[in-house]
Amino acid sequence: MDKGREFVVDGQVVAVFRTEDGVFAVDGICPHAGGPIAQGMVRKDVVTCPWHGWQYDIRTGCHQINPRICLKQFNVTVEGDGVYIANSG
Ligand code: FES
Repeated sequence: MDKGREFVVDGQVVAVFRTEDGVFAVDGICPHAGGPIAQGMVRKDVVTCPWHGWQYDIRTGCHQINPRICLKQFNVTVEGDGVYIANSG
């Protein structure tokens, strides 16, 4: 997958990505200035925000250079063709 998909879950924008390591879901709004994370280009496990280029590890949600900046993660369950997303707690 070159890009993620964006969904609204319980009123929150969520970016969902499928990688070789599995399916991951993180906050779909970039904390820098509100860019759409799901529309960012994906290489391996890194998504680049399309607005100003901040990069996040899809698996952890954390910024590549400043790991104190992290996108909220969501629990993902894959059952058959379905992908289920829930708040991580
Ligand atoms: S809004 Fe994402 S890098 Fe600026």
